[in-house]
Amino acid sequence: MEKVYALFGCPVHHSLSPLMHNDAFQNMNIAARYHAFHVEPEHLKDAISGVRALGISGLNVTIPHKTTVMPLLDDIDPAARRIGAVNTIVNENGRLVGYNTDGPGYVRALEEEVNVNIKEKRILVIGAGGAARGIYFSLADRGAKQIDICNRTVSKAKQLIDECDAAVSSAAYSLNEAEARLGDYDILINTTSVGMYPHMEEMPISLKNMKEGTIVSDIIYNPFETKWLKEARKRNAIVQNGVGMFVYQGALAFEKWTGIFPDVQRMKKIVIEQLR
Ligand code: ATR
Repeated sequence: MEKVYALFGCPVHHSLSPLMHNDAFQNMNIAARYHAFHVEPEHLKDAISGVRALGISGLNVTIPHKTTVMPLLDDIDPAARRIGAVNTIVNENGRLVGYNTDGPGYVRALEEEVNVNIKEKRILVIGAGGAARGIYFSLADRGAKQIDICNRTVSKAKQLIDECDAAVSSAAYSLNEAEARLGDYDILINTTSVGMYPHMEEMPISLKNMKEGTIVSDIIYNPFETKWLKEARKRNAIVQNGVGMFVYQGALAFEKWTGIFPDVQRMKKIVIEQLR
């Protein structure tokens, strides 16, 4: 019987996940379909009961359900619990198990697309929300030397560092403080929504003090290349857009569901075709 996979989010109508996963299922001759469902927060509990009742094989959950879905599951992977968010759920013979592939997906994309070894790198993360949290942990796990966080609200950056208690040296800065010390870093990562469609004129921080050859990475993929990345490119940075994180988080979810790591280049091509 054909298996069913789903995305729960609000909104979901622009999601590229159905296209990406359905193509992978088809390409690999796996009898399965992936469908996006618009689930309002007050319906999440019923929707998860529906997953159990209907025997849906696996899920992605996105904004605003990544944290609120956690108490509705039977088990949560320790890494996802540490991050405090779940984006992938596997139905293991009726037991719903939550994982987080966002942070690991980001790091894998960084390693494979930019060909960088994260070990011993000095990294600045801009933003202190849910995405920053997953990325921070995953970078720490890969042996980064230093991961500083700057944020509009500095107290949130401090809080993230304190709560995470990761084995890495970290400091919290205001956006202005971080701008002044940009030359200290090997990798700059924007995890905020600043510069995302339709506010495409905005930049998270100035790159004036960045040194040439710095890796500048933005998790935004709409627009394909943010104003910030264009500016980084002009200053001879190595740039990476958000398509990689999106594709790799999907590929890692696909692997959790099927046991097979899909063709990421094919997934990336499909996503890029839609975005251009
Ligand atoms: P996500 O889960 O996608 O990371 P989030 O938890 O809402 O989203 O976090 C959004 C991040 O973007 C935060 O770091 C936020 O800064 P604050 O903590 O000060 O709110 C940052 N952010 C959003 N809009 C911003 C803006 N206009 N200027 C600067 N930072 C902004």
